[in-house]
Amino acid sequence: MADRETWASRLGFILASVGSAVGLGNVWRFPFQTATNGGAAFLVVYLLAVAVIGLPAILAEFVVGRRANLNAIDAFDRLGHSRWKVVGALGVFTGFWVLSYYSVIGGWVIRYLLGSVTGGYMGSPADYFGAVSAGPEALALHAVFILLTVGIVAFGVEEGIELATTFMVPSVVVLMLGIAAYAATLPGAGAGYAFFLTPDVGALLSNLDTVVPAAVGQALFSLSLGFSVMITYASYIGEDDNLGVDGGAIAVFNTFVGVLAGFVVFPLLFAQGVSPDTAGPGAVFISVPTALAEVPAGRVVGFVFFAVVLIAALSSAISLLEVVTSYVIDHYRFERRGTAAGLGTVVFALGIPSAWDTAWLGWFDGVAVNLFLPLAVLLVVTFVGWVLADDAVDEVRQGTDVARASALPTVWLWAVRSVVLLAVAGTLALGVRELLTPSGAYVVPPF
Ligand code: PHE
Repeated sequence: MADRETWASRLGFILASVGSAVGLGNVWRFPFQTATNGGAAFLVVYLLAVAVIGLPAILAEFVVGRRANLNAIDAFDRLGHSRWKVVGALGVFTGFWVLSYYSVIGGWVIRYLLGSVTGGYMGSPADYFGAVSAGPEALALHAVFILLTVGIVAFGVEEGIELATTFMVPSVVVLMLGIAAYAATLPGAGAGYAFFLTPDVGALLSNLDTVVPAAVGQALFSLSLGFSVMITYASYIGEDDNLGVDGGAIAVFNTFVGVLAGFVVFPLLFAQGVSPDTAGPGAVFISVPTALAEVPAGRVVGFVFFAVVLIAALSSAISLLEVVTSYVIDHYRFERRGTAAGLGTVVFALGIPSAWDTAWLGWFDGVAVNLFLPLAVLLVVTFVGWVLADDAVDEVRQGTDVARASALPTVWLWAVRSVVLLAVAGTLALGVRELLTPSGAYVVPPF
């Protein structure tokens, strides 16, 4: 397909992928997953999961995308394994599913950004969250967030996504470093660092069956794996990139921002004696404002904080929309703008239940993270490890003299076939168990 779009530069591709990876998962999900799973011990398992599972898996998605140079569904046809198309389709579907509630949360962030101007959320954070997180206002802001997402995707790979993320990713890092530095000056911040950085090994060992799947799930979600994003983004790159290096850079960068978020959130909360383990989707929206109400210049800090969250969320949302858009454009030869707008409308509709009731949002998230996501990753690594196999190694070797000579690509293949596959299968099994718990958080909420 001669007229298919490509990235203007390798850095552009890396920044776009980092933009996808760095999102609500880092700033909203990670600190509270850490808090509910025992603090620093979770951090250790998470870091291991990124290195041992996330990195090989991201490379697996890259291989599929770049070898096929096609959207995540048709890619499998082009690779000569049409039956595996369901894998791409599941990823595309999951992306759609996640975007529907991701953008509801994005809408909350817009609300909080505006709320920082008056400090409205500081008086009674839990009531405020209750009032704005569901209902007509949440629905309206869900629409606004989708509009912003569609607006960027409509401009295309190079002039939309690449250009936007080139500004967004550095802004997130700089602003976050600023708030982390500010948080360090708060009296009592030390308790936050201690919680975040001193693992309680005893507690970890006795809770391995919950902490490990939570950490693996977080690693996959955070690296945008299992949504066909990395397949799609890699389909726009040239043969001369070293995929291993790119994947490594993205994983390191994403982890850095996640850890940085911990350096923002924990000192802020602990300095104010706010408990970090408020569970549920509202976590960051209640605890952080509670702390902000007490600190000097709380509104300014709040504004910057929610601006960071919004930028990070948007750069992820565009990747989710791009996965589907790319399929429709490649496959049906539709034109980009109309496609992005049409798909945005469908996503909006799918998000209505989540915008109406946070119980639905929790359900959508639970099903995605416990079922669709590990299932999709399991299928991708099985495909790459056992079906594509030697071709996959060959693809990793493209564009690199070092890897051509070294044994690393082969080691990677065996890791994908064994450790990665087993770990993801285990995560899926535990996720399904969680979903089926009769009293669990994932029971379908009433209308
Ligand atoms: N990785 C993103 C985050 O951490 C979420 C995401 C998942 C984005 C999948 C795109 C695709 O928030």
